[in-house]
Amino acid sequence: MKFRKIVVGLAALACAASVWAQQPIIIKFSHVVAPDTPKGKAAEYFKKLAEERTKGRVKVEVFANSSLYKDKEETEALNLGAVQMLAPLSSKLTSMGMNEFQVFDLPYIFDSLDQAHKVTQGPIGKGMLKKLEAKGMTGLAFWDNAFKEITANVPLRTPADFKGLKMRITPSKVIDAQMRALGANPQVMAFSEVYLGLQTGAVDGQENPTSNIETQKFYEVQKYMTMTDHSFHNYTLIANKKFWDGLPPDIRATLDGAVRDTTTYFNSIAQKDNDDALAKIKANSKMQIVTLTKEEKAGFKKALIKLHTQFEPVIGRDLIQSIYRETNFDPNKL
Ligand code: LMR
Repeated sequence: MKFRKIVVGLAALACAASVWAQQPIIIKFSHVVAPDTPKGKAAEYFKKLAEERTKGRVKVEVFANSSLYKDKEETEALNLGAVQMLAPLSSKLTSMGMNEFQVFDLPYIFDSLDQAHKVTQGPIGKGMLKKLEAKGMTGLAFWDNAFKEITANVPLRTPADFKGLKMRITPSKVIDAQMRALGANPQVMAFSEVYLGLQTGAVDGQENPTSNIETQKFYEVQKYMTMTDHSFHNYTLIANKKFWDGLPPDIRATLDGAVRDTTTYFNSIAQKDNDDALAKIKANSKMQIVTLTKEEKAGFKKALIKLHTQFEPVIGRDLIQSIYRETNFDPNKL
């Protein structure tokens, strides 16, 4: 009788194990932007590749537009293992103590996406991603969106135009200093609250790439957009390290390949998506586009370039200098 009980028990365990073995590995991927943006599209592209290439052994659940977690919450959720993947604006990782990830916020550090790719997709970027492991994150990739523009209800042509404006910013000490250098009052606000903040006047303006400005309809509550291209907007694709290290080796290798191909996809669509968003804003909204003269652009650069040395103690002089070398940075070049 006892032997029979053991056999029945083992059979039940084997059955449970086989059911468990058939359960897909769930990856919750949370982000704060609209689906029709480079990051939104890349999250869905990764989902497709991951599910197809693992033949259903992995299921990716994408939660767009802050539908699961808002800005600050999402990095905490990743830490707790409540979500498995994120792609926050790189400087939002300062909330995890990664101050050097603010380097991408330094005004005018890149003057083209190609220059940015040399850094983010090369050895400098690889070294930065590796550092995330100490904080319990697996740094998977950099997704290079585009350059930021600035919206407000007054035309912004010179630093003096910013005086006294309440400008919404992401939680970056560099962007805080940038707005103060322009005479504005920076206000950190979650991305999901920006439209209402602009509509109610809680803030007077904000900065983002055109794809975010268009998909969040900021043009409905902002009269002007100045094409400053003053700073680079890139994302760090991260996973919860305990989760990623715990994946079966064959699954992890397949997902690493899906990450590589999704990064190539993201970096191939970003500029066009932002150009298309600008065209939509021009065609469908009353927001006036302010194009700066060479002199006006030089005025912004002159007012902001000092942040590079000001933030050496925070970001690290070596990292900044390595980027200069990699891109032949010229502080006087516009
Ligand atoms: C913002 O908060 O303005 C952006 O970082 C949103 C995003 O993820 O592009």
